[in-house]
Amino acid sequence: MSELINEINRRRTFAIISHPDAGKTTLTEKLLLFGGAIHVAGAVKSNKIRKTAASDWMEIEKQRGISVATSVMGFDYDGYKINILDTPGHQDFAEDTYRTLTAVDSVIIVVDTAKGVETQTRKLMEVCRMRKTPVMIFINKMDRDGKDPFDLLDELEQELKINVRPLSWPIEQGARFKGVYNIYEEKLELYTPSKQTITESIEIKDIHSREINKQIGNELAERLRADLELIEGIYADKNPEESYLKGDLAPVFFGSALNNFGVKELLDCFVRIAPSPRPVVAEERTVYPENPFSGFIFKIHANMDPNHRSCIAFLKICSGQFERNTNYHHVRLGKMMKFNQATAFMAQKKETVDEAFAGDIVGLPDTGNFKIGDTVTAGDILHFKGLPSFSPEMFKYIENADPMKAKQLVKGIDQLMDEGVAQLFTNQYNGRKIVGTVGQLQFEVIQYRLLHEYGAKCRWDPLNLYKACWIESDSQEALENFKKRKYQYIAKDKEGRDVFLADSSYVLQMAQQDFKEIKFHFSSEF
Ligand code: G4P
Repeated sequence: MSELINEINRRRTFAIISHPDAGKTTLTEKLLLFGGAIHVAGAVKSNKIRKTAASDWMEIEKQRGISVATSVMGFDYDGYKINILDTPGHQDFAEDTYRTLTAVDSVIIVVDTAKGVETQTRKLMEVCRMRKTPVMIFINKMDRDGKDPFDLLDELEQELKINVRPLSWPIEQGARFKGVYNIYEEKLELYTPSKQTITESIEIKDIHSREINKQIGNELAERLRADLELIEGIYADKNPEESYLKGDLAPVFFGSALNNFGVKELLDCFVRIAPSPRPVVAEERTVYPENPFSGFIFKIHANMDPNHRSCIAFLKICSGQFERNTNYHHVRLGKMMKFNQATAFMAQKKETVDEAFAGDIVGLPDTGNFKIGDTVTAGDILHFKGLPSFSPEMFKYIENADPMKAKQLVKGIDQLMDEGVAQLFTNQYNGRKIVGTVGQLQFEVIQYRLLHEYGAKCRWDPLNLYKACWIESDSQEALENFKKRKYQYIAKDKEGRDVFLADSSYVLQMAQQDFKEIKFHFSSEF
């Protein structure tokens, strides 16, 4: 038992999120370098689909390949087992990122010092806030000119709606960047622009020490002291670690991922204060990490090889120990299954896993048994909550373009939706099928995959909608009345839940005003 608890306590499972180009790939790579998981820079490929390649199918295929290899990167560092979950770089795949965030225990957000908080970061932070996920922030590219650090902290607080507390503080930036004072470890870290060297760091417990003046000059030393005093005053928190773990406070580090500066400090603090696997709420009860084995599927990745329609289902272990060749219970199907080909993800390579623990991710080979959200357990009947679908932002009617292949189309759509590629709604008035996505690229991917993997042809018909809202009411009569009044705009999602299709924000507002008994939800879990 105590071995199980040790294994669980040393696990840190997290995702790095950012707006494209802030430096997520670079930071990931540097973390892997520190963990000894890779040995040369450049080994981690960016999984970005560049805008120019938006309709380059080979690019998409390549992207899918890369993202399997780097979906989860596990390595050991300083006695800890670290699992970094990768998130797609392209915003059209944001739904994928939302789901990945359900499988992590904490998050590191990368922000570009010159650009500050950008749209994608803001959206992803909303998901973290909803789930109370602890977040740490890395302000990157300090070797470039950027915003004033105090202004940046204000911006973070306002835009991300979270309190912050700097744990390192920059001394100048851009061409004059001298380094940071590491508040967490009470050290002065001096910057030398190089991609490989280890940072020179000098322990300074007392910020009044003359050593600081010697290292960075009188003027900068005085300014640093003044800044640090200000920080103590403004960003005070009685128990910062507790506030961080509750998701109320984000520690902030400054550095330059490209120059390998500030990354080790971030990592050292991270492993110490970031949470090990936390209890997870299932419909039936709270599941504690030390309980018997349980986990859920948060991602399904179709295989690249079109000749074998096999997939990898990614299982996040919520509790206990997973063992190879053991009978486990697939709760939705109500059947026992054994996995002898399950894989663990150790940075860049997949290997067959004999055992894994709460916090880890294992890849289960799948031939159509799994859907997103499925639970696998040692025997318990559990349904994990917290895998919501969010209202899509783009909608199109999907039509069959080859009458001979109607069956293939139905099957293809069904499986792609189970894989979580997009959401399907059925309009209750005209029976037409609607596909909802967060970006144009997903429509192209669906069309391409339907053709190449299922031999089905589809056509998209335009549909102008603003949002799909899940609706409910305490009064069945009120709900029926609303559905009657809005009959042209009522749909069912894939699970048969009622959805209101609002064609503009005005229409939605009016509906909210006129039908007070109806609750409108922007995510499927309420
Ligand atoms: P992303 O995954 O968040 O999209 O960002 P990525 O790491 O790919 O970084 C985006 C660009 O920013 C890259 O340049 C990268 O080299 C650069 N970068 C990352 N960290 C730093 C930093 O600390 N300082 C500076 N000055 N630049 C940084 P690129 O030219 O777009 O790509 P590449 O050709 O260098 O790969």
